[in-house]
Order: sequence, then C-alpha cells, then structure tokens
Amino acid sequence: MSNTNLPHWPYPRWIAHRGAGRLAPENTLAAFRLGAAHGYRMFECDAKLSADGVVFLMHDTLLDRTTNGSGSSGEQPWGALAQLDAGSWHSRAYAGEPLPTLQAVARWCLASHLQLNVEIKPTPGQEEQTGHAVGILMNSIWPRSRVQPLFTSFQPASLQGAKDAAPHIPRGLLVDQFADETGDQALQTASQLGCSALVLNHALWTAELVARVHSAGLRCSSYTVNDEWAAQRLIDLGTDGIITDRVDLFSPAA
Ligand code: G3P
Ligand code: CA
Repeated sequence: MSNTNLPHWPYPRWIAHRGAGRLAPENTLAAFRLGAAHGYRMFECDAKLSADGVVFLMHDTLLDRTTNGSGSSGEQPWGALAQLDAGSWHSRAYAGEPLPTLQAVARWCLASHLQLNVEIKPTPGQEEQTGHAVGILMNSIWPRSRVQPLFTSFQPASLQGAKDAAPHIPRGLLVDQFADETGDQALQTASQLGCSALVLNHALWTAELVARVHSAGLRCSSYTVNDEWAAQRLIDLGTDGIITDRVDLFSPAA
C-alpha cells in the first residue's frame, strides 16, 4: 500500500558503505572510485572534524587502525592529517592513499553526478559542532538544483547542528536498538529533528516496524547488509534503502 505522507526520497536503493566496503581502504577517494566502477550511484562515508575545523573522512576516533598515525584524529590539524597514509593498512595497491576532505569527496560526487550520504561521526564531545560544520560546508558547495546529500548520525546533537546550518538538506537518524522504549524515543527524536528517515541495523526491521515507521512519515533504511537473504528480506518488507559493503555482490541496478 503506498503512503502519500512519506517524504520525498530521490535516492537509489543501494548505497556503497564507506565507498566500496572492504574492497578498498574505507573512506578514501580510491574507494569511492572503485564503488562507482561497480556501478554504485550513492556512497556512505564517515565525517569528522580536525582540530582546526576541517571536515575529513574517517570512521574511528583513533587514527591507528586505518592510517600510519596514532591517537585521536580530532586532536590533529588538517595539515598533519593530510600527510598520513590511509591506504597501506589495506593492501600494497593502495599505499600512500591520503585521507580525503569531505569537500574533495563532495566535489568528486558532484562532478560525477553521484549521490552522497554523509554520516556525521563526531569525535566524542564535538557532536554539535561537527554537525554544524558539515552543514555549513555542504550548504556552501552543493547546488540547490541537484539532488541533495543525505545527512545521517547516531548522535541527535550532530543532526541538530546540521539542521541549524543547512535545514534544507535531508536527515536520517541512525539507530542500533529498537525495543519498546528506545523505539518510542527514536521516533520522537527523529520527528523533533525533522528527519526523513530512520536508518536501522537491518536485523531490527519487521513488517510491523516498517508499517509503524512509514506511518510516522519516515523512510526506512538499513545498514550494513552483506548477505543476499538479508537484502531480499528488506526488499520484501518494502524498505527504502540498503547500505552494503558488498559492491561486488549486489548489482545497484537491481
Ligand atoms: O551509516 C551506517 C553505518 O555506516 C553505521 O555504522 O559503524 O559502519 O559507521 P558504522
Ligand atoms: Ca558509517
């Protein structure tokens, strides 16, 4: 049954997680290029703030796992972060791949006519200011005439910061638990933040929950879906978006 109260949702079903999942070093331009080579038209990435206010892509708070640096990335200025090798940890083929700024990735998406899902992933304690900086940046570079990026976050304060800076850019609340009380709270928070979507751990979706979230006027999206049976379940449930690592398994045209 169609629900005419659902927000506009101009995004493809399939979204490549961190660029190309695990096939390339996550959150690098090389990963985005590989995801695009597999036919993906929309990309999820993780954005945080350097000590001097530059928005760049990195999942972890610490540099150690995905670069040759160490310590908290949010305590380093961009000039130092830009020198790091964010590719060798993955494989020799990507040795020397740099951390990208969000601006560089967004400009690449615009030039390539691709869509972007920016997960605002703040260093702890920088929730609101990271959201605000992401909103200011994307508002300044992304034309109103184009399909807008999608902002998501587990942190309501980050979505509030993004909303204050760029109210016209759609938002989705990321949720990893949806029991009775936490579910009510998530729906209330999403409504207060004017969200277009709830983005859940995919295992949480049931037919009842999809109906409840749709009737609350929110789209239903999922992370991170890497098995065919799980993807088919979500499609059968009538959900709206799937974030996957497996750009080599799922055809984004399906
Ligand atoms: O954006 C959805 C998903 O990426 C959230 O989990 O830990 O992979 O950032 P994580
Ligand atoms: Ca993420």
